[in-house]
Amino acid sequence: MSTKAKNKKRLGVNIDHVATLRQARKTIYPDILDAARRVIAAGADGITVHLREDRRHIQDADVFAIRKQLACHLNFEMALTEEMIGIALALKPDYCCLVPEKREELTTEGGLNACALKTELTSACHRLSEKGIAVSLFIEADKLQIDVAKAVGAQAIELHTGRYAELTDAYEIKMELQKISEQARYAKSLGLIVNAGHGLHYQNVQGIVAIPEIYELNIGHSIIAQAIFSGLEKAVADMKALMF
Ligand code: PXP
Repeated sequence: MSTKAKNKKRLGVNIDHVATLRQARKTIYPDILDAARRVIAAGADGITVHLREDRRHIQDADVFAIRKQLACHLNFEMALTEEMIGIALALKPDYCCLVPEKREELTTEGGLNACALKTELTSACHRLSEKGIAVSLFIEADKLQIDVAKAVGAQAIELHTGRYAELTDAYEIKMELQKISEQARYAKSLGLIVNAGHGLHYQNVQGIVAIPEIYELNIGHSIIAQAIFSGLEKAVADMKALMF
């Protein structure tokens, strides 16, 4: 197998913002299930949704409809709360990605502070894994956080690429990529699956794609935004084409 083929990443498309458009007017369109079907048909490897506590975009009925009607890999992003754990246990997604959540934020800001949540995370990982749901922790590329992810029983981590995505200075970008790369290597050496996401778009994704230890990228906002111009299928296929 060529190095390029070996470095091929999985693409999970986050379709939250299809629901953002629908919720803006409380209409019945755009149809979430239709969007999920098109995303998979265009070559994505899975669907990612974040059921936020304030239900600002994706709704409970959306995630259950996707699970029931589509045979696709489902990554369910959720806050570490009893309500969300209950929903996840009923939904049975392939992955639960535990994320920090603040009501007033525009999007998920920063990674989970796994070090401060050891007891709660151990319990959540145990309860979800027992039902065959793999757990991923959305964390910063930080050795301490990675050690805790391993210790609490998570199968995967998703490294937060938000800081990388916001940087404009070439030297700072290089340093940030180096940090993500080193921590991805460390996490993989512990046996964790290493995913990444947040803020990735068509111009910055390749820096992250070049990191061999990263298995999957979860990308939402930029793909849904690009779909306005090119259509959803092309927006997904164009992103996938950049992921070698
Ligand atoms: N991964 C996680 C854990 C997230 O919370 C989000 C945003 O919901 C994403 C990936 C996707 O980020 P973006 O929409 O910026 O591509």
